[in-house]
Amino acid sequence: MRTGERMSLDHATTKPHEELAAALADGMGAVNTLIRERMASEHAPRIPEVTAHLVEAGGKRLRPMLVLAAARMCGYRGPYDVHLAATVEFIHTATLLHDDVVDESQQRRGRPTANLLWDNKSSVLVGDYLFARAFQLMTEPGSLRVLRILSDAAATIAEGEVLQMTAAQDLRTDESVYLKVVRGKTAALFSAATEAGGVIAGADDDQVQALFDYGDALGIAFQIVDDLLDYQGDAKATGKNVGDDFRERKLTLPVIKAVARADAEERAFWTRTIEKGKQEDGDLEHAIALLHKHDTLAATRDDALAWADTAKQAMAKLPQSDLRRMLIDLADYVVARIN
Ligand code: IPE
Ligand code: IPE
Ligand code: MG
Ligand code: MG
Repeated sequence: MRTGERMSLDHATTKPHEELAAALADGMGAVNTLIRERMASEHAPRIPEVTAHLVEAGGKRLRPMLVLAAARMCGYRGPYDVHLAATVEFIHTATLLHDDVVDESQQRRGRPTANLLWDNKSSVLVGDYLFARAFQLMTEPGSLRVLRILSDAAATIAEGEVLQMTAAQDLRTDESVYLKVVRGKTAALFSAATEAGGVIAGADDDQVQALFDYGDALGIAFQIVDDLLDYQGDAKATGKNVGDDFRERKLTLPVIKAVARADAEERAFWTRTIEKGKQEDGDLEHAIALLHKHDTLAATRDDALAWADTAKQAMAKLPQSDLRRMLIDLADYVVARIN
């Protein structure tokens, strides 16, 4: 087999996040070691129990890979991208612990959630501990600018979650509110990851801006797809329950679009199930039928594709490299993914 054929075959079978993981294997090994070290606690055994449960279950490690990829494609060769990568994974893990309490979720990464196995108190307090550990880690590179990026992101994520809470159960929630929510709760950490990677590498302002724009658009596309998978995903692949958002009465993009296209009878259905929370057997199935009737799952996927395109255009502003190509492929993958 000629080299060209082998490359295209490999390319077809390896998912972009796996290809990134292979390209960043040494750095990600160091990130995972640092995560294990810093999630320990000498004094409170509940902490390593809960963190090990979540961390050993895996997770795609997308955000730490974004830090390492951004730093390395901008020429960084020092040790601190590893600290920043562990920082963003800690922030992510802390928000997942809190999120599963708030969403009353029962499954995460294919396992029972920590709130189910232990209790809400453990999830909230261990989540707080991980946040605090993240803040310790983010000081270690000694860059005030990086510290500001990551601490701003932590505040923005919390704002996004609170905005989502108040926008839930309210049929007036429109696409602009939805965008604010996803940009806050999800994209802020993606954009902080890529921006911080560029900053630690000493990239120029245009490159840092392009990295931020890439992370922002990628994170929005990612969350839109997460919201799609909540209606049309397979629990075996996602490791999370289908229908959580409907039960939680969240106005995610497929529903917002269906409400905008609803006739009087359909509107009464959404008012009963989402606003009043009076849900009966068969309602989730009926909701999904309405999403199909108005083709809002396809329209939502189109929006995700447009954001992935924005991400790719931003990435194209950076100098050509293997890592750049992988990040561009990653934007396509987040829309095509099933987990
Ligand atoms: C889950 O993120 C939370 C969302 C922003 C939708 P991931 O899907 O990246 O979670 P893990 O880390 O791979 O489990
Ligand atoms: C993701 O929100 C959690 C944060 C970004 C804080 P969701 O509630 O939509 O994510 P999943 O579906 O539980 O992973
Ligand atoms: Mg959730
Ligand atoms: Mg949530």
